[in-house]
Amino acid sequence: IETIQTFPDDFLWGASTSAFQVEGANTEDGKGLSTQDVRPVPAGLSDASIAADHYHRYKEDIALMKEAGLKSYRFSIAWTRIYPNGDDEQPNPKGIQFYSDLIDELIKNDITPIATLWHFDLPNHLEEAYHGWLGKETIHHFERYARTVFEAYGDRVKYWISINEQMMMVMNTEMLLGKGKKISYKEGLKYNMQACVNMSLAEKKAFQLCHEIIPDAKIGPSSAYQLCYPLTCDAMDVQAAMDAEEFLSYLVLDLSVRGEFPATLKAYLKQEQAYPVISEEEQKLLKKERPDFIGVNYYASLTVRKPGDPDPKADLFFFNTENYTIVNNPIIKTTTWLRGSYDPLGFKLALRKLYDRYQLPLMITENGYPQTEEPVNGIINDTERITYLKDHLHAIKETISEGIPVIGYHLWSFIDLLSGSQGYKKRYGLVYIDHQEGNKGTLQRIKKQSFYWYQKQIKEKGREI
Ligand code: BG6
Repeated sequence: IETIQTFPDDFLWGASTSAFQVEGANTEDGKGLSTQDVRPVPAGLSDASIAADHYHRYKEDIALMKEAGLKSYRFSIAWTRIYPNGDDEQPNPKGIQFYSDLIDELIKNDITPIATLWHFDLPNHLEEAYHGWLGKETIHHFERYARTVFEAYGDRVKYWISINEQMMMVMNTEMLLGKGKKISYKEGLKYNMQACVNMSLAEKKAFQLCHEIIPDAKIGPSSAYQLCYPLTCDAMDVQAAMDAEEFLSYLVLDLSVRGEFPATLKAYLKQEQAYPVISEEEQKLLKKERPDFIGVNYYASLTVRKPGDPDPKADLFFFNTENYTIVNNPIIKTTTWLRGSYDPLGFKLALRKLYDRYQLPLMITENGYPQTEEPVNGIINDTERITYLKDHLHAIKETISEGIPVIGYHLWSFIDLLSGSQGYKKRYGLVYIDHQEGNKGTLQRIKKQSFYWYQKQIKEKGREI
């Protein structure tokens, strides 16, 4: 199929961040502590107390977004700035004001705000008082938080993301059950699935409220879509790849869009006595509410084989279940930080599969290239990142040419930020932040070469991609 010359005129050329990874000021102006703020950090590494200091420097950062020509910016609202403990009776006015000012600044600079409700940073009090998402109370508190922010910002924010990478949170039993508690696989599975459904119920409440309070807004989840290749053409490997894809990707998205578990997975969970408790009323809610689009976070594909001995050298091997084993892909290019694979064609396949299954518009909410980098004579010549972005944007251009509606691209990340797993050595930004491990550095902003490259692509609507 012939590839279009330029991206559509209304394509959202954007970039992403999340609150705890950029804001810093994590106890300022009444903010409560989130699970990310209390997470143990190895000695010498940075925690979330300063990050990129975006809380104090957001105007400078938005000026840089304007200079890059961004059409949209995906950020997340820290639940703990709005409700410091999660279950407070009244919201924190200073928290409400901060995001209101940020949104105004974006709009003043012609940048469309895209707000995520929950990006990994659950109020820690909810974790301690109700076992986080295992407690039905958390659903209720999320609903109140969502209502508050829809009412506060709905006049200006027309794109919302409900939950970022739900499955990542579900897989992390430690986060659900409290630090250091060791449980068996089967027990963990049961808790994970209950927490997963509770998150989905909270998400459905958010869909419902968003549609009621802001009828002209659109809302959807951000999925960490894991495309899974079978290692060989052995039907057992193919089945393992299907099981992995179902568990890691379709489980959450099927709940989001169709309101039910994938059939095979449901049968398996029932057999394992791990199928969650869902009341009739909850089942109705799951079925009734639907998203308007699907947000896609794509970094890499996975390769799996039939269950067997785990391969501890495989990237992301901690995603293993007893139904499949994750292995390294022998063909796809690997890089130091990129979780094992560099796979733009996999991106195209993932988007096609998602559209075929759900028939909803797709918005890329994350995709990016991590590097360890420092300026040389004041310049950061990140050519590998540029090549990565070009290859992945080309995959999107081809996807759009093939008739699949991809409405925007939000690269991860606009500025260097605290990596979810590896601190400040792992940088993703178009803009360098002088933050050195251990909460040190001047926090000066330096535009990388990729900043100028992206600026040019936006201006020319991706003609040379
Ligand atoms: C996604 C998350 O999983 O990947 C981001 O939504 C995260 O918050 C990003 O930063 C990259 O992962 P990491 O572990 O390299 O920071």
